[in-house]
Amino acid sequence: PASLSLTNEHVVITAGPTREAIDPVRYISNHSSGKMGYALAEAALAMGARVTLVSGPVTVCAPSGVTLINVQSAEQMRDAVMSNIDDATVFIGCAAVADYRPEQVVEQKIKKHDEKLTLTFTKNPDILADVAKLERAPFTVGFAAETQDVSFYAKDKLTRKNLDMIAANDVSDDRIGFNSDQNALSVFWAKGEKTLEIADKYQLALQLMQLISEQLTQKHA
Ligand code: C5P
Repeated sequence: PASLSLTNEHVVITAGPTREAIDPVRYISNHSSGKMGYALAEAALAMGARVTLVSGPVTVCAPSGVTLINVQSAEQMRDAVMSNIDDATVFIGCAAVADYRPEQVVEQKIKKHDEKLTLTFTKNPDILADVAKLERAPFTVGFAAETQDVSFYAKDKLTRKNLDMIAANDVSDDRIGFNSDQNALSVFWAKGEKTLEIADKYQLALQLMQLISEQLTQKHA
């Protein structure tokens, strides 16, 4: 059974993809299933935390007991996170936030005529980096999906985004892809690292939440 080591913590988690509108009937998005973020929410709950889950559109069900906030776009996800972050002690950015959104949402459905159609994109806010920058930032954990030099890019992201911890997965390994029920993680923080071997996402989530709770205790000590 999970230890109740997150009692008194408020854990805010983002999960799933975001949808960026092109016109009233179209959007761009990605294949994130939300499974890892939802597993983290369930694990945090099992360890006694209060959990707020800010989720893009997914088909998985939220564990009962979490406060679920459904959003579509990255901007909506940022707003929902920022309105719930004040008393958060842990933030985990597990969502696959679209890096870019169409510069303008066309008001009417785009008609088919020319042979080519060009869309211009603008950069989305980086929710994780924005949370890490807050004056009273919670213990901030990021995810990194890498296809090569996992440790190098993960550690770079840890320092560049000013995170407390980063969990990296090798997405070139097809056993642990986006929609898989399993995952494997290399976890890095300023003073250490740990490899979490391939396992069901819930088992892995419990191990990651355990690591977070240990490092959180160190931070507060
Ligand atoms: O820089 P990169 O997108 O690889 O970073 C991934 C991490 O940053 C994930 O934790 C993801 O949830 C978070 N992220 C975010 N907002 C963005 C882009 C990424 O919170 N716009």
